[in-house]
Amino acid sequence: MSQSVTVRVPAKVNVQLAVGAPRPDGFHDLANVFLAVGLYDEVTVTPAEALRVTCSGPDAGQVPLDATNLAARAAIALADRHGIAPDVHIHIAKDIPVAGGMAGGSADGAAALLACDALWATGASREELLEICAELGSDVPFGLVGGAALGVGRGEQLTAVEVGGTFHWVFAVADGGLSTPAVYGEFDRLTAGTRVPEPAASPALLAALRKGDATALADALGNDLQAAALSLRPSLADTLGAGTAAGALAALVSGSGPTTAFLTADEESARKVADALLASGTCRDARVAASPAAGATVV
Ligand code: C5P
Repeated sequence: MSQSVTVRVPAKVNVQLAVGAPRPDGFHDLANVFLAVGLYDEVTVTPAEALRVTCSGPDAGQVPLDATNLAARAAIALADRHGIAPDVHIHIAKDIPVAGGMAGGSADGAAALLACDALWATGASREELLEICAELGSDVPFGLVGGAALGVGRGEQLTAVEVGGTFHWVFAVADGGLSTPAVYGEFDRLTAGTRVPEPAASPALLAALRKGDATALADALGNDLQAAALSLRPSLADTLGAGTAAGALAALVSGSGPTTAFLTADEESARKVADALLASGTCRDARVAASPAAGATVV
């Protein structure tokens, strides 16, 4: 009998991404407020002769299918810890923009880990799964927990954040990706010779999330990587401007970009902003999504 397990996992937007000075290990200390949004990948694992990864969806061609894929690395990490062979076929049904600053690759890592744990009946504790996630990458633990969370350290040490309502977003997908290390490198170049403050979560932002107040959240949004992403991809300024002109409450680069995020007052205005962004010709696609969304879940 060939059984399989499917896990659905959300994308994220960083409603606050406060970045500190580079650390000796090359990473940056962060105060990173993650919000899971309702754009999902589905990862299915099935027993196979050997580990292999396949991917479907409009941007599947941009997804690496070798051992650098975080889903493959997650399966190997869990199998290694439990002394079993990672012989699974991992299929990723991809809907999250690729290399877009929405943690799609990280989400697939978290999803594959949860799926393999169920398939192999590994019985790993939540703590062990979170530990493996943190080894895989700074954004991977959040894919597992979803909702909203503050990430400190390099972003992997999570505390849940309360969200008191639904927020409506539009995500403008750009042509091509941006490399996260390149964006952090540009941040270092732009801030060289200046004193970079210790990153800290904004109390106003946390209060806005708690109240479910979109106007207050719009005022408090912030991304310290935005200047670096715009420096590497100046055309993103046109996308941000087009969404703001169409009535978004606020616009910002999502994580390290190049996806841009637009917070709107309600679902109807999200649809209007998405239509205007598409018509503006400043992006390849515009997706409407609500937040918060649940973390990785077996379906
Ligand atoms: O942890 P992850 O593998 O996702 O990080 C990708 C890259 O992003 C790192 O190699 C580093 O260049 C940069 N990064 C950083 N500081 C962080 C997280 C990521 O400099 N806190």
